[in-house]
Amino acid sequence: MTVYQATASAPVNIACIKYWGKRDTKLILPTNSSLSVTLDQDHLRSTTTSRADPSFDKDRLWLNGVEEEIKDGGRLATCIKEMRALRKQLEEQDPSLPKIAAFPVHIASHNNFPTAAGLASSASGFAALVASLSALYQLPADASRLSLIARQGSGSACRSLFGGFVAWQMGERADGSDSYAVEVAPREHWPDIHALICVVNDEKKGTSSTSGMQRTVETSPLLQHRIKHVVPQRMAAISEAIRARDFDAFARITMADSNQFHAVALDTEPPIFYMNDVSRAIIALIVEYNRVAVANGGKLKAAYTYDAGPNAVIYAPKENIKEIVELIVKYFPQAEKFKDPFGLFGAAGVQPQVIP
Ligand code: DP6
Repeated sequence: MTVYQATASAPVNIACIKYWGKRDTKLILPTNSSLSVTLDQDHLRSTTTSRADPSFDKDRLWLNGVEEEIKDGGRLATCIKEMRALRKQLEEQDPSLPKIAAFPVHIASHNNFPTAAGLASSASGFAALVASLSALYQLPADASRLSLIARQGSGSACRSLFGGFVAWQMGERADGSDSYAVEVAPREHWPDIHALICVVNDEKKGTSSTSGMQRTVETSPLLQHRIKHVVPQRMAAISEAIRARDFDAFARITMADSNQFHAVALDTEPPIFYMNDVSRAIIALIVEYNRVAVANGGKLKAAYTYDAGPNAVIYAPKENIKEIVELIVKYFPQAEKFKDPFGLFGAAGVQPQVIP
């Protein structure tokens, strides 16, 4: 008997130009384009195995061993349905293919980091789901084509189908067919950039991205300014900075965009606060670190960015990472012991993890 099963994995990505706001909540079409870096090591990944079998009575999914309900018309169901439709098309074109689109699927997904850690687990999760179904169904679809489907699971997931530097083009069409991810540059283009993740708080966030961003769309006048007059220029400028490997420009744009994202969250009614005092203290530390570098005739050495939670991600050239980690460890008391690949820490409140 043939077993129809495939496994795929996808990493987390962290946005430099933030996606915040949908113009279509069902299709997950954004109000602005966004750009991220996909973390390329094994620390923050989702790995997903899918199996199609005629003996299964329905589609089922387990996340870290716990079954999740696949709600009719929900995001999971939509992704599975869309992937199945692609397989069906293929089977119609080539009648010699086994008719596995008709079989129910069982899907098991695992994150190698705490799902509730305030890190982007939905991005890697939906990207791995779509990648594993694509492998199961042996689809000829490329990453941009798959990103159209991952996008309908979670917007930011579309960017995790590529490694390196990735843009999600917002598109214009009402059906979403031009709202997908594209590679800006592969990881090898600029391997010197590293990400340092500082876990300030690993509890689940208060306001989810999904509900928070829609409240912002409905109530924030600043968001309208951001969409029309800020993001388009920033997308072009940061893409150029990446192409030119210009860390100074990359850092300025990344920090400005994180700041503006948190400003639109504050401009929401009622206001949303994602950063806490520790997050702001880390910003102050990076600002001071950069100020000293510039005062000594140098350029910016690090860039902070924050998603919908208090945890900091610091992008920096590799040569600065050790110094930055030492600063963080010096100024922020570490709550627990942990392992890190460079052996830089003794004990880890702010728990930095070096992602090479
Ligand atoms: C702040 O992709 O989680 O991380 O599309 O509703 O699932 P949904 O939202 P999600 O939002 C991510 C928001 C962000 C910024 C970003 O990753 O671009």
